[in-house]
Amino acid sequence: MLKYGKVNKPPSMKNPYKLSQNHNQPPSFEESLATILPLFVGETRNLIIIIITVLINIGTGVITPYIITRAIDGPIANKDIQTLAIMSLGLVILYIISAIAAYGQARIMGYVSQRVLFRLRAKVFSSLQSLPIDFFNRNKAGDLISRINNDTNKINQFLSEGVLRFTSLFFSLIGIAAMMLYLNWQLASIVFILTAIILIITRIATPFIEGVNKVGLENQGALSSEVQEGLLNFNAIVAFQIQDYYQNNFNKISQAVYSSKIQTNILNDSIAPLYTFVANLSQIILLAIGVSFILSGSITIGLLIGFLAYAQKFFEPLRILGSIVGSLQGALAAWTRVQEIISLESNLILEEDKSGLKKRKTKHILEFENVSFGYDEKQILKNMNFNLEQGKTYALVGPTGGGKSTTASLMARLYDPQKGLVKLYNKDIRTHTAEDRTKAIGFILQEPFLFSGTIGDNIRYGNPDLANKSNAELIEILKDNNLLDLISDFEYGVATNIENNAISIGQKQIISFIRVLLRRPQLLILDEATANIDTVTEQNLQDIINQLPDTTTKVIIAHRLNTIKKADQIFFINQGILTPAEDFQHALNLIKTKDGES
Ligand SMILES: Nc1ncnc2c1ncn2[C@@H]1O[C@H](COP(=O)(O)OP(=O)(O)OP(=O)(O)O)[C@@H](O)[C@H]1O
Ligand SMILES: [Mg+2]
Repeated sequence: MLKYGKVNKPPSMKNPYKLSQNHNQPPSFEESLATILPLFVGETRNLIIIIITVLINIGTGVITPYIITRAIDGPIANKDIQTLAIMSLGLVILYIISAIAAYGQARIMGYVSQRVLFRLRAKVFSSLQSLPIDFFNRNKAGDLISRINNDTNKINQFLSEGVLRFTSLFFSLIGIAAMMLYLNWQLASIVFILTAIILIITRIATPFIEGVNKVGLENQGALSSEVQEGLLNFNAIVAFQIQDYYQNNFNKISQAVYSSKIQTNILNDSIAPLYTFVANLSQIILLAIGVSFILSGSITIGLLIGFLAYAQKFFEPLRILGSIVGSLQGALAAWTRVQEIISLESNLILEEDKSGLKKRKTKHILEFENVSFGYDEKQILKNMNFNLEQGKTYALVGPTGGGKSTTASLMARLYDPQKGLVKLYNKDIRTHTAEDRTKAIGFILQEPFLFSGTIGDNIRYGNPDLANKSNAELIEILKDNNLLDLISDFEYGVATNIENNAISIGQKQIISFIRVLLRRPQLLILDEATANIDTVTEQNLQDIINQLPDTTTKVIIAHRLNTIKKADQIFFINQGILTPAEDFQHALNLIKTKDGES
């Protein structure tokens, strides 16, 4: 009985791994909180200090104009120098405390914010790592890079600076409003009416800002994708002399980024002058009305001066709050894009059998039972049935695009079938742990890939037996396995550094070969693994493969017929349909007629 673990649903034919580009639905509050809160774990002490410093700042900001009011109406009016000196000293001390608090707050917030960013990026990256290959097929690397780099940064800026400023401004607004009401409610209502007008205008502008910010982020992602694609394929661009074409594409996207950025900036920046204007306007109105109040004797000069200071202080946070709303929209758009990755659950997760790989003497190491598969809606493999016996050599042949590499990918569980079952050692391949599976199956891809580093590093990667071996030990191991000659052409042997492209495909294949052979897999899958290797070296590799233990099952995909001549069984794959050939001659006929029916 197969037990499904975390994810119960089989992958649908419609691809669930395509990230959306227009996000109309931001993630739910609970979902967001579940991701954000853990980012702040261990920061409690720092957060408390930050809150205290914020409170100190708000307190001094709210209290100082009141002290000035009292000073003007009291000691200044009465020419009481001594009290005035004490009050001034008090003010200076308050300002110093406030400055120290502000410094401490900025400093601690700097630490916290970098740690939060670090954790957020790690979280997104580990979510990415858990996703199946399908996901990476569907989404452009540039878009993903942009989500990991830019979007996380936007979110972090908002979380660390935005939230803090928002709360501190919000509470100082309340404090100032209370003080204004306390000083004179009539003057205060004038300030509130002006505030209401600004808020209404901001509210009308917000949807525009929101929309433009979203478009801006998407354009940014598209630009990264374009640059990445161009840089990766620059030799093709030069070979075909299509620089103009590429340049045009680039310009188009770059132009879109430029326009949307300009738009966002204009929108964001147009709010600020509006606030300044209203703030100045309010000063004039308050002054006019305040003077008439003074003349009628209902308020003092000190009170009016204090009140004007409060009103000025009131519009300043209001203005900043307005700009924070802009950054909130940006952060929300970024958050939607990041959360989308985090909440994608990998359907690769099944309840795994941790009992370890039992290398029982099963006859069939691998079986396909009614396997159907498509990368997307289009079906590629159609109802495949076959089994691989231990120790035998199989060849997959067939026309280009017939489905050989796809079949091999499913054997190694790079993808899961949409229908049917792949069994490894008589058990659903999905129930083996990844470790057991990769130990059992060695796979050389049609397009070999090496990491930057030395040849030795590349041979050691993912092989626990070699992880701690020095270069000298590695050389001994290579010698024992007759593999050392293969890399004799490299100037520094295993210590040779491999730069990204400064190595031929054949050389890459040889290194991939060594890597996979040293793992001693029970099932070795070679997808055109020698297609780019000269015939002499290919023969050497053939000899080395022949020295593998008899129990090793081999699956060879090759177009060169001499490579497959010795196979125990040839499978012909055309249009996703597998036909077992009766013998070599039958296979040749199938290849010639190409329809598998002859
Ligand atoms: N990553 C992918 N996404 C979508 N379709 C794909 C992908 N890889 C292959 N295909 C499609 O699947 C079909 C089978 O491709 P596959 O690579 O298995 O053929 P192949 O027999 O290995 O061909 P070749 O001899 O050229 O290596 C082709 O029609 C191809 O277009
Ligand atoms: Mg192929």
